[in-house]
Amino acid sequence: MRILITEPLIQSAADKLKEHFDVEIGERGSYYNEQAMIEAATKFDGIMTVLSNPVTENVLKAGDRLKVIGHYGVGYNNIDTDAAREQGIRISNTPDVLTDSTAEIALSLLLSAARQTNPAEKFLREGKFEGWAPDLFVGLELHGATLGVLGMGRIGEGLARRAKACGMNILYHNRSRANKKVEEELEAAYRPDLNQMLEEIDALSIHCPLTDETHHLINEERLNLMKDHAILVNTARGPVVDEAALARALHEGHLGGAGLDVFEKEPKVHPELLTAPNTVLLPHIGSATYKSRKAMGDLAANAIIGVLNGEAESVPNLVV
Ligand code: 8YV
Repeated sequence: MRILITEPLIQSAADKLKEHFDVEIGERGSYYNEQAMIEAATKFDGIMTVLSNPVTENVLKAGDRLKVIGHYGVGYNNIDTDAAREQGIRISNTPDVLTDSTAEIALSLLLSAARQTNPAEKFLREGKFEGWAPDLFVGLELHGATLGVLGMGRIGEGLARRAKACGMNILYHNRSRANKKVEEELEAAYRPDLNQMLEEIDALSIHCPLTDETHHLINEERLNLMKDHAILVNTARGPVVDEAALARALHEGHLGGAGLDVFEKEPKVHPELLTAPNTVLLPHIGSATYKSRKAMGDLAANAIIGVLNGEAESVPNLVV
């Protein structure tokens, strides 16, 4: 059987797959379009994908050879899971193993935006530091401030735990209420009304998946509900936030700052965000630790091996 890894990912996963199958590794970027993916679907029994590979209905219907997609990532909004279900193609993702790495990046963005470390560092590097001054980069103290977590899944909870350790009060909004243990441990209060939560908080961190319901969930109207000093952090998916509205709010001083690891039209970044005050921008590196990336590769490879060897029931991370 033949496997495609759509771009060079991690050697250990490729080696694992090579023990069982013929493995081809694509060139970076060559499978970022639907046509290339359609062709791949006719030639390979399994494909290891990344978020830039469109796994559309057309791809999934392209032939009857493809049996499994081992997606290298936890979010799989690039994959049409309904079409996969219809075609009997199994899909796996990589939950848990990137929870801590992504929560760490979210905390880092939160701290950095709250204390304005990016503009402060730029100021110093530009030779503008002329000695201590009482009004230099005075920011938001996390201790005692209130964090709103949008999406209390694994990563949302991971960030909430870290924020709690910094002394923050935790509110959260989610489709359904988190379990009691999480609420008790974090002393986290559920806010079924997102708008109410936005009015109450000093910082928002986004951790929900991108779906039709969450697209532009944070729009101009909702941004306006937030306090002028509030910080917005997004390590989930760019399109959950209306980027143009966010850039406007930052430029007009309706928000205190932002920390973004994801963007609406990656790799493009809204030009107004590039010039927005107190905005930390990272190139989608939430899960970029050696530990997470190795484990993501293992999970994706094991899912492909399990499904193609007829042992799908023993694969713990199948979403379809
Ligand atoms: C991945 C991510 O690096 O897991 C996710 O959902 O966004 C990142 O951790 C990316 O999706 C690679 O496919």
